[in-house]
Amino acid sequence: MIKNDKPKRILVVDDDQTIRAFLRDYLESLGHQVETAQDGFEAIAKLELDIDLVFLDVRMPGMDGFEVTRWIRDNSQFKDIPVIMATGLNTPQDRIRAVEAGANDFITKPFDCTEIYTRTTSLLRMKEAHDALKSYKNELEGTVAKRTEALRRALDKMVDTQRRLREANLETIHRLVIAAEFKDMNTAAHIQRMSRFSAMLARKINLTPGEVESILYASPMHDIGKIGTPEEILLKPGKLSGDEWLEMKQHTLFGAQILENSSSELLHMGEIIAVSHHERWDGGGYPHGLAGEEIPLWGRICTIADVFDALASERPYKKAFTNEEALKILKEGSGKQFDPQLVDIFTNNMSEVIEIQNKISRFGNDK
Ligand SMILES: [Fe+2]
Ligand SMILES: [Fe+2]
Repeated sequence: MIKNDKPKRILVVDDDQTIRAFLRDYLESLGHQVETAQDGFEAIAKLELDIDLVFLDVRMPGMDGFEVTRWIRDNSQFKDIPVIMATGLNTPQDRIRAVEAGANDFITKPFDCTEIYTRTTSLLRMKEAHDALKSYKNELEGTVAKRTEALRRALDKMVDTQRRLREANLETIHRLVIAAEFKDMNTAAHIQRMSRFSAMLARKINLTPGEVESILYASPMHDIGKIGTPEEILLKPGKLSGDEWLEMKQHTLFGAQILENSSSELLHMGEIIAVSHHERWDGGGYPHGLAGEEIPLWGRICTIADVFDALASERPYKKAFTNEEALKILKEGSGKQFDPQLVDIFTNNMSEVIEIQNKISRFGNDK
């Protein structure tokens, strides 16, 4: 049966020429290729010949069989080669030493051919199974590495696409906001400051970093609906008439309409902010007259950020209030126009508010 298998290469190590010749003839008759060595040193050198099994004499001059076995087991390249030890001294001590040195099996001299056949066959099978497992493992590692690489590339591409999509989204929003500003005369600086005030408030009430970022980008959309408000109303220096005021209030609903039904989370948040940033805590706001926590949190946050910045900035119809004056108005409106808790948080973080004001000048440039 072995004769039909792929030839195996067996290294026969024995200082006795007669035994080497006998083993060579017999193993070759089984279909194996045989290399021979007359001592331990030659054996070690010949391990390089892609050996599948070592047939090793115990008693040899120089390096004995135990030493050769130990050397094989300690060598990472050869440690898996099976070793059969052949000894004339069939003592239990020898067997123990052979096992301790790392031999897989042993045969006693004089040799019995059946014994040689059965032991070499079973050890060669074991080696074959071991080799197959090793190459399967290597192949598997290669496949896994290749797939991991492909997955990584796909992920990189996905992240890149998402990033570009998000940038395109943000740019669209920015352009929309600018379009609304053209009519309103609101400066870019107002948008930048109020969005940062909003993000600061969101951070202080422990919203997630994702929500904080979203409010930073969604809050500039609060007045986007003013794109639908007639210019003569938007730019009117004096007080608005009743009808004009009604028209003005429409910007909340226009904004919501512009942004509604979007699958983008940011635009959806923008819609909520657009429609709720003029609601009042006491229910006296517009367009729906919601009160307290009925008003979406995003809207309540943006109201404070928006009103404070409007107060502290110069507008065509008014001079800028000082921060102290603006803060006083905010506090007076606490629980009336504004969510009282958010007013407290805003008031307690004036150093960050001032930092944002210092960073973004009236002309909209980051200093
Ligand atoms: Fe508004
Ligand atoms: Fe505003």
